[in-house]
Amino acid sequence: MPNQIKIFNKIKPFNKTIEVSSDKSLSIRAILLASQAIGVSTISNLLESEDVLNAIRCIKKLGIECKKVGNKYKILGYGLNGFNIKKKTTICAGNSGTLARLILGLLVKSEKTVKIIGDKSLSKRDFSRVTEPLKKFGTNIRSKTNSLPVEILGTNFLRPINYFETRGSAQCKSSVMLAALNTPGTTIIKAKKSRNHTELLFKYLKLPIKIKSNKNFDFIEVNGLKQFDAFDYDVPGDISSCAFFIVLTALSKNSKIRIKKININKSRTGIITILKKMNCKISLKNKQMYKGEETSDIVVESSKNIKGFNCPSYLNSAAIDEFLIIFLIAAKAKGISSFKDLGELNKKESPRLDIAISFLKNIGVKVERKKDNLKIFGNPNIEINKNIYIKNYLKDHRVFMMSCIAALSFGGKWEINDKDSINTSFPTFLKILKKLGASIN
Ligand code: S3P
Repeated sequence: MPNQIKIFNKIKPFNKTIEVSSDKSLSIRAILLASQAIGVSTISNLLESEDVLNAIRCIKKLGIECKKVGNKYKILGYGLNGFNIKKKTTICAGNSGTLARLILGLLVKSEKTVKIIGDKSLSKRDFSRVTEPLKKFGTNIRSKTNSLPVEILGTNFLRPINYFETRGSAQCKSSVMLAALNTPGTTIIKAKKSRNHTELLFKYLKLPIKIKSNKNFDFIEVNGLKQFDAFDYDVPGDISSCAFFIVLTALSKNSKIRIKKININKSRTGIITILKKMNCKISLKNKQMYKGEETSDIVVESSKNIKGFNCPSYLNSAAIDEFLIIFLIAAKAKGISSFKDLGELNKKESPRLDIAISFLKNIGVKVERKKDNLKIFGNPNIEINKNIYIKNYLKDHRVFMMSCIAALSFGGKWEINDKDSINTSFPTFLKILKKLGASIN
């Protein structure tokens, strides 16, 4: 099977410096905001993965010019709602919930109907979580089943809303913030904590935004109809891609890695907080600030005494895309690890909580689930001696990559399907593993 890989051996000790893919959340946000700016924005180190290339295809279809010059992307915006939309336009968000949900926010004033579609995985995901608040702005949205396809036709009579975001979803919060850009008056948002890249970009672009925070919530006010100039943006590395190498190194003997220039925004680094509590050796070097975002190199060493951890649910949002890989550390820990309120994991590219549980059982790890709470009974001597076949029926990129790390760390003879899924977020994943010495066929 051409789209399948085989891993039959653990990785040997390594000591290397690597670079991983650029940040997906920032790449998509930079493209969407550049499409609303006045003039030519330049984006360097844009992640060239399917989710991000789909963002470019979408804005082009909406009449925005975008071209690659050397290794930079130039995007020519005509200001807020400066799209030039043809009749019967359909845009495809592929696998990306972030793209589909955020671009809906930008279309609340569109002059023509736009239909948004996606792949099989995205078409199974809930869109009422964004269409409901967006309808309150006065825009027209239709979808038969609360999922894609969704059709949106904007209006010139938008009104600001009061919105309470309760899931800790940055996609919902950001969709409403982008809708607020085209809306007169003040949109007021109370949002359970989630990644704050959109807020930081708004601040950097000098958009009228006010933010107050307490431990659990952010209180955000956005004033609409303020035009902004084109900008330059250099996208740093993605902690969510870096996560696979952090865990591989922690689980491998006599190994060390330095992963260069990763975005370490606190709303994203839950994995570092959690793994450090579990005794993993992780340090941050060469910290720098860039346009409101913090970056650093991440250095990880093999970890000998990994211990179980009772993970508080306030860390969930900052580690939301990393739980699959964090569970591998819990599988090797001494003692029990517990995780709470993980319901949102089942709302991702595939039902990741359900998949993680059957995956862990399949590799011989004891787990207990009560509703959306999970206990993992770790085994420091974990060793797999059987054949494992990973089907990955929704082609979830993170399920594929987590399976590779498990195979290289715990042994066994693995056949893992859907290698092309890495193109969603991290096209160079297998190349980097091979550079570290992994034997993959
Ligand atoms: C993202 C937010 C998260 C995350 C996704 C990217 C973003 O989703 O899982 O991969 O860029 O805003 P939710 O906001 O739905 O939790």
